[in-house]
Amino acid sequence: MPTNKNEFSGKTALVTGASRGIGAAAAVALAKSGVARVVIQYNSFPEGAEATLAEVKKAGAKADALQADLGTVEGIRQFTSALAATAPHVDILINNAGSLIKRSTLPEYTEALYDTIMNLNVKSVWFISKAVAPHMIAQKSGIIVNLSSIAARNGGGPGATMYAAAKAAVSAMTKGMAKELAPKGIRVNAISPGTVDNHFHEVFSTREVLDSVVKMTPAGRLATNEDMADAIVYLCSKGSDYVHGQTLELNGGMFMI
Ligand SMILES: NC(=O)c1ccc[n+]([C@@H]2O[C@H](COP(=O)([O-])OP(=O)(O)OC[C@H]3O[C@@H](n4cnc5c(N)ncnc54)[C@H](OP(=O)(O)O)[C@@H]3O)[C@@H](O)[C@H]2O)c1
Repeated sequence: MPTNKNEFSGKTALVTGASRGIGAAAAVALAKSGVARVVIQYNSFPEGAEATLAEVKKAGAKADALQADLGTVEGIRQFTSALAATAPHVDILINNAGSLIKRSTLPEYTEALYDTIMNLNVKSVWFISKAVAPHMIAQKSGIIVNLSSIAARNGGGPGATMYAAAKAAVSAMTKGMAKELAPKGIRVNAISPGTVDNHFHEVFSTREVLDSVVKMTPAGRLATNEDMADAIVYLCSKGSDYVHGQTLELNGGMFMI
């Protein structure tokens, strides 16, 4: 966590996928770090979005929520339009919304699942970044943090190949965006969580699998949402001013590169 709360004063942050999990923790952590306004996006869990808004406000920031299904092209378009009306000046963008959607083998894979995976995990990251970039370029400053995954490095678990490929795209986009935008005063980085003990793995993994991950993890535990939020705040802060285009691998030492 940065010690200088003033560095975020007057800033607006957008955190996608902040109705729960890493996004909710990041929204609250940014508010606690002094961000003036936090705009969150959610899809299917309005109660979670309300809870995040309440915590953001309790931390002293203004808070707004926008609903959007970023798994569809239309949803991405509607979201970027709504964003332009609600928060045209985003200073800090956390491209966090993402999901494995469903485990599926190659023979069972449908084109609809492919499209949803790529829309949600790749297309939305690119076009939401495009939507906020003009303001950042005009003011010659801005921060973008993307969410990759350990799956980008290891190809993902069973039935998660295209999710892994999508996250590899996110890591590559992070580098390319950083090269394009660093000369304009904008820093782009990513975090790559290993296994976070949250809703995501309640849906997509079993307790046995998670226990086996703990056994393979030198840190001796799974990650928390707050572990990820702390790293996101670091990448937004002046303390990481010379960090560009990096994907921070946050996996308790389970996978080292
Ligand atoms: N958990 C892990 O171990 C792990 C590991 C590596 C990478 N990640 C990545 O970290 C990011 C956050 O995941 P998490 O662990 O916090 O997962 P999570 O607890 O399941 O939360 C996912 C968030 O993304 C939103 N979302 C999901 N599908 C969406 C859609 N179609 N349109 C718009 N928003 C959608 C959800 O909104 P609603 O709930 O409102 O629908 C929710 O706010 C994701 O990009 C994920 O791929 C997670």
